[in-house]
Amino acid sequence: MKVFCTGASGYIGGSVAAHLAAAGHQVTGLVRSPEKADAVRSFGIEPAMGTLDDAEILSRAAQAADVVVNAASADHRRAVVALLDALAGSGKPFIHTSGSSIVGTRARGERSDAVVDEDAPITPTPARAARVALNDFILSYRDKGCRPVIICPSLIYGIGHGAGRDSVQVPLLIRLAKKRGNAAHAGPGENIWSNVHIDDLVTLYALAIEKAPAGAFFFAENGESSMREVCEAINRMLGFAGPPVAMSMQEAAAEWGEGTTEDTMASNSRVRAKRARRELGWQPKAQSLMEEIEHGCYREQA
Ligand SMILES: NC(=O)c1ccc[n+]([C@@H]2O[C@H](COP(=O)([O-])OP(=O)(O)OC[C@H]3O[C@@H](n4cnc5c(N)ncnc54)[C@H](OP(=O)(O)O)[C@@H]3O)[C@@H](O)[C@H]2O)c1
Repeated sequence: MKVFCTGASGYIGGSVAAHLAAAGHQVTGLVRSPEKADAVRSFGIEPAMGTLDDAEILSRAAQAADVVVNAASADHRRAVVALLDALAGSGKPFIHTSGSSIVGTRARGERSDAVVDEDAPITPTPARAARVALNDFILSYRDKGCRPVIICPSLIYGIGHGAGRDSVQVPLLIRLAKKRGNAAHAGPGENIWSNVHIDDLVTLYALAIEKAPAGAFFFAENGESSMREVCEAINRMLGFAGPPVAMSMQEAAAEWGEGTTEDTMASNSRVRAKRARRELGWQPKAQSLMEEIEHGCYREQA
């Protein structure tokens, strides 16, 4: 199978592309520098130089492929249009990567009890309205003769298998803990994020390519933790005694920026991946986030 993957030098796309190449597929990956071209080549991926703004390059690469995996950006509309228009009428799968902050609540570190699955309507915050509109646009191509599918991961953890090795939230928290000599969360840290291991996520992409129906939307999740629990595990991993620190929102924004703080570090995003288990037979089995922090890849990395 010929696969074209955007984000091939990144965490998600790199892991998916490396997995598919290792499984014997002919994978071409979009890269935007010679260094990244070399990096993806070492994982058996043929680099295609270009960016998400190069509509013609995207269009040609999509037409030459049997499958397109879009993992460079959950938000880049022009790239999506170029890729989908190239696939319209072909019947080919288009696997797009979204992100579960679309159901996030801005909560300043407080807990929310709202938990959603694929049957629940999505009412995004203004910061995520365009992402939700893009998802709707993508799924509308089910009526245009291709097979659009969206995978919507929650917090992803674990070391990537391809050129991009690190995710977002957990590495941010570990770096800050090392800097301060104590883990720190935004506000009380009672806010909860669902999570999924990169190994299990990669399996989900492979299953979606194989058998997800046109127009399907899948959350990716296999557990959840509050940010305080994550910080406590980081302190145990790093040997820091005492409880993590509760930063003010201003302090957290000074560390991570306002958008990241509000939408990914101090918010809740609690989802259930019912549909992937039910319709694709997805069976996540990697180590939990707590195990990876205290005894697994993050301890090894630290
Ligand atoms: N990590 C998570 O926990 C998570 C969870 C849910 C959703 N998501 C979403 O999934 C998407 C990918 O996340 P990630 O963690 O894999 O990010 P990442 O590690 O930063 O990888 C992004 C990849 O896309 C490429 N890229 C970005 N902008 C590009 C452009 N304009 N033209 C060409 N290539 C471009 C990057 O190339 P370079 O290597 O050249 O920079 C890199 O290969 C993001 O939209 C993110 O919000 C991530």
